[in-house]
Amino acid sequence: MTRLRAIQSDITTLAVDAIVNAANSSLLGGGGVDGAIHRAAGPELLEECRKLGGAKTGEAKLTKGYKLPARYVIHTVGPVWHGGKKGEPDLLAACYRNSLTIANKQGFKTIAFPSVSTGVYGYPFELAAKVAIDTASEVIQKPSTLEEIIFCCFSRGDLSVYESLLSGVTL
Ligand code: AR6
Repeated sequence: MTRLRAIQSDITTLAVDAIVNAANSSLLGGGGVDGAIHRAAGPELLEECRKLGGAKTGEAKLTKGYKLPARYVIHTVGPVWHGGKKGEPDLLAACYRNSLTIANKQGFKTIAFPSVSTGVYGYPFELAAKVAIDTASEVIQKPSTLEEIIFCCFSRGDLSVYESLLSGVTL
């Protein structure tokens, strides 16, 4: 059984098997959670990222966690929000699915996601949270090594959106 849980935290502080990074297609760092992860992991993370050759929107790639308490980082590239009719929901779902596939192949037990695409990339928070929860719920229908999938919210308000959705309450 895999548990889905939402917490409020800085994702760089979590001692899980993998944290997910909301990266851009260069995979060479940026602002937001990407900048925070690179700062906390140290320069070796960027060195490893340089060897990955970037990633397309919806893809996910694995690196070590270096100075982070998390053992690994899964870098995924979320879609930029263009109003929702340019395939954004499918691309965002692919981020979660591909990240969870890597975690399962690696035998990870715990993984934490930030809310991919909901910062600079402008994806409406609640719509993104629904995609995240629906995709994770679908993936865990099949046998998995994962014991816990954590949705790591940066603000109290973001956490309450996840809590409502996870408890099935309509906002
Ligand atoms: N811990 C957890 N969540 C965080 C943290 C943190 N330390 N910092 C920010 N968030 P964003 P995007 C939340 O903009 O929209 C970068 O420059 C934040 O509140 O980091 O996917 C990349 O290089 C928001 O809910 O990512 C790309 O160019 C969520 O993380 C671009 O931004 C995502 O916000 C990606 O944009």
